[in-house]
Amino acid sequence: MTSQSLNPQSSFSFATMKAYLLSLAFLLCSLAQGLSTKGLGTTVKVFHVYSSQSPFRPSKTISWEESVLQTMAKDQARLQFLSSLVAKKSVVPVASGRGIIQSPSYIVKAKVGTPPQTLLMALDNSYDAAWIPCKGCVGCSSTVFNTVKSTTFKTLGCGAPQCKQVTNPVCSGSTCTWNTTYGSSTILSNLTQDRIALSMDPVPNYAFGCIQKATGSSVPPQGLLGFGRGPLSFLSQTQNLYKSTFSYCLPSFRTLNFSGSLRLGPVGQPPRIKTTPLLKNPRRSSLYYVNLNGIKVGRKIVDIPRSALAFNPTTGAGTIFDSGTVFTRLVAPAYIAVRNEFRKRVGKATVSSLGGFDTCYSVPIVAPTITFMFSGLNVTMQPENLLIHSTAGVTSCLAMAAAPDNVNSVLNVIASMQQQNHRILFDVPHSRLGVAREQCS
Ligand SMILES: *[C@@H]1O[C@H](CO)[C@@H](O)[C@H](O)[C@H]1NC(C)=O
Ligand SMILES: *[C@@H]1O[C@H](CO)[C@@H](O)[C@H](O)[C@H]1NC(C)=O
Ligand SMILES: *[C@@H]1O[C@H](CO)[C@@H](O)[C@H](O)[C@H]1NC(C)=O
Ligand SMILES: *[C@@H]1O[C@H](CO)[C@@H](O)[C@H](O)[C@H]1NC(C)=O
Repeated sequence: MTSQSLNPQSSFSFATMKAYLLSLAFLLCSLAQGLSTKGLGTTVKVFHVYSSQSPFRPSKTISWEESVLQTMAKDQARLQFLSSLVAKKSVVPVASGRGIIQSPSYIVKAKVGTPPQTLLMALDNSYDAAWIPCKGCVGCSSTVFNTVKSTTFKTLGCGAPQCKQVTNPVCSGSTCTWNTTYGSSTILSNLTQDRIALSMDPVPNYAFGCIQKATGSSVPPQGLLGFGRGPLSFLSQTQNLYKSTFSYCLPSFRTLNFSGSLRLGPVGQPPRIKTTPLLKNPRRSSLYYVNLNGIKVGRKIVDIPRSALAFNPTTGAGTIFDSGTVFTRLVAPAYIAVRNEFRKRVGKATVSSLGGFDTCYSVPIVAPTITFMFSGLNVTMQPENLLIHSTAGVTSCLAMAAAPDNVNSVLNVIASMQQQNHRILFDVPHSRLGVAREQCS
């Protein structure tokens, strides 16, 4: 199908869909970029959907500040609502960043410093470090953390043990400074510490990068909080408090409020959730790998070569759960097998493509379910996790794609759209990942 076949009323949603496709490219590339640091994969040029290079950059948008203000007003009600529902203090509301910071990630509210300054930080479960735009930063957005106003703020020196955990530290004077890339951005930050609180429990002396200079458009405007498995991540730094255990429910990315939740610590996690073992890859220590053994479309187990799914720490092959990618990517032979069976089940309707999606329909369809068969855990996706619809409901596409050829395409990524409205438990001490359906949009 082409854009000409769309009526004027649906053109906005069509643009939105293109934006999704573009951000998909961006996300995958940023993931690929993140992974290439260990000498695997290649460097890929990326740009963000709202960058100046993007043809889909909206000509008129509501300002970021405006949308944040609006959301904060709603958010206040949401917080009160949540605290009335859940007495456990370690539940943090999660919102889709798309509506709030025009970023494809999910965000949480963090209180940083003493007295606390509120920042809407992006979550990234495939990244370890945290950074916050600090006052004086060149290239950051207008919302920054004012270090001078915090009585608990400290700069870490080159001798600090945390300075050995960052990649390529530069010691300028006594400050531990480091230069890193994230997606299309380069970020220069000082390694610093301050109090940070996502829930009612403040974490003292949290080590993070205080951004001095940022280029490119991949930096989430109010900072990023890494929930990976490696040193310096939120898990590692809150080990005593939250025991390297958390879960989240990601709301639909069309939801504009903080209706999702991030649950920190072993208390309050679903006790009988079905789980699959977490696998460890020393070469990509931040990532949450699991064993995907097969995929069912409807009741049929599709024919996928074992090598397409096998975990291999040396090449990085295998399957991860990632919060920063929107649409699931499967290595080509796996994707093709799934897509072919999906098309067969849908039947006669004409298949078209749209951007990176190759299985789209412009008539209503009855979609089969898709089941990911992990070791000890089958997860069946309902249509809401499988189909992306134009707002007008004219077009729907299977919201998955083959891993792009130009990156190290050995990784299957279970992405956020497929995780939406599920509770995903990351239980590092017991080395398991749990999945259960939960409506949080
Ligand atoms: C950080 O990296 C950028 C881009 O690679 C480079 O231009 C800059 O000089 C670096 N800064 C420091 C302090 O190393
Ligand atoms: C980073 O550290 C240097 C040296 O201590 C300092 O001059 C600079 O202001 C710091 N930058 C930020 C953004 O705090
Ligand atoms: C959040 O948004 C959804 C729809 O997007 C709505 O149904 C729900 O009531 C909202 N929740 C709050 C607390 O505003
Ligand atoms: C998953 O589904 C397959 C095929 O239907 C079945 O053989 C297997 O026992 C199921 N596994 C679990 C853990 O339910």
